[in-house]
Amino acid sequence: MATAVLGMQWGDEGKGKITHLLAKDAAMVVRFNGGPNAGHTVIDRGVKFGTHQIPAGVFYSGVKSVLATGMVIDIFVLREEYDGIVEHLGRKPELIIAENAHLIMPYHRILEDLEGSGSAIGTTRRGIGPAYRDRAARIGIRAIDLLDGSRLRERLHSRLDALKRAWPQSEEIASLSASALADDLRSAAEPFLASIGDAPAAIDAALTNGEEVLFEGAQGALLDVDYGTYPYVTSSSTVYAGLPHAVGLGGLRVEHRLGVTKAYTTRVGEGPFPTELTGEEGEWLRSAGAEFGVTTGRPRRCGWLDLVALRHATRLNAPTGLAVTKLDVLSGLEEIKICRAYRLHDREITTFPASLEDLALCEPVYESVSGWDDDITGVAAYGDLPAAARAYLDLMAEGIGAPISIVSVGPSPEETIITGFDRG
Ligand code: GDP
Ligand code: IMO
Ligand code: MG
Repeated sequence: MATAVLGMQWGDEGKGKITHLLAKDAAMVVRFNGGPNAGHTVIDRGVKFGTHQIPAGVFYSGVKSVLATGMVIDIFVLREEYDGIVEHLGRKPELIIAENAHLIMPYHRILEDLEGSGSAIGTTRRGIGPAYRDRAARIGIRAIDLLDGSRLRERLHSRLDALKRAWPQSEEIASLSASALADDLRSAAEPFLASIGDAPAAIDAALTNGEEVLFEGAQGALLDVDYGTYPYVTSSSTVYAGLPHAVGLGGLRVEHRLGVTKAYTTRVGEGPFPTELTGEEGEWLRSAGAEFGVTTGRPRRCGWLDLVALRHATRLNAPTGLAVTKLDVLSGLEEIKICRAYRLHDREITTFPASLEDLALCEPVYESVSGWDDDITGVAAYGDLPAAARAYLDLMAEGIGAPISIVSVGPSPEETIITGFDRG
């Protein structure tokens, strides 16, 4: 049986919490896209972690952690994360690293700054764009290349040669040496060199054996490279539609697809955001929801729930159920707004425009609903939520077009209401 945890908005929906919660019953958890641009918060036995590349199942013994082909992996960040987890758990995690996955090199981060793409898009400056670009340009270096020191040196040598010619003025590029970088990479990767292998075969075998496999998405549908708010997106496919390819299994069937969505909307970085609240209400949401990035610490832009954007995400993620997070953050508001449509050039539209210029002109058309006063953090059963909170969830489910499976009312695993998620 397979389950996917997928972001429905612009990332940071709470995928880490939901994956960690479900992973205790899984045999394998697979991260399938992105790299250390992701920051997934997990509270494991009271200790808070921000995971970047290792999937959130790593906290349970007996759960294999797979870094799939669709990712771009920064070996130095991975080593730091790995060491932190080994220290917390007191044991080594069982990792499988896809041999075909591309690596983020120090020069990818340097290039992102040199080219200015980082600041124009407001990226996480983790070298994501340049690494995926090298993959498409067929000049990337893959995990499998780490296994042979001389091959690695040779590939780095030819890549660095070209970079030094292209960027003669960059001292940072000039200072890179192929052999030193190859040594550093192999030494950082030492604890997991033996884990580099055929990830699609391992996932396939787990599924064939009837094991529970969980797929952990990074980012969210609106950051998808093709279907998000291009060019203010990340450089990978972030949605269910891209999952089989990212894990290398054409026949993949994922029975449960959980679309994770906050009870409101946030975004970090640049780009259009029709329901953004720039004044006091936005400040209020940011502070009530502690909306600051896990990876970069940047304040997140905040706004009301956007059903037009969420319906767009529904087509991409095909959720069989929704995991609504941070409902507790809305407690205490007299009135809550939901965007049902956009007004564009005096017309009401209910589809998400592909044109960035059109999207920037879209004005949200809101419906107001009543809020609730009660603190809902300790609520354990759906029926015990205030009627207004349940009415809000009903509107979400109806507007997005998927039933509510999980309601999260606090950051800890215990602060969760499971309503309709049965993995049978
Ligand atoms: P991810 O990238 O999708 O895993 O999400 P992040 O971890 O970047 O951001 C989600 C933030 O919200 C984290 O700080 C979580 O600890 C927190 N969080 C998750 N679910 C809830 C919830 O239901 N209520 C509250 N108050 N915080 C939550
Ligand atoms: P998780 O998995 C929120 C955003 C960046 C920027 C754009 C491109 O924690 O939800 P990139 O560094 O990928 O080239 O940046 O995408 N971004 C995220 N925003 N959550 C994330 O991951 C993000 N990963 C990238 O802020 O706008
Ligand atoms: Mg995050």
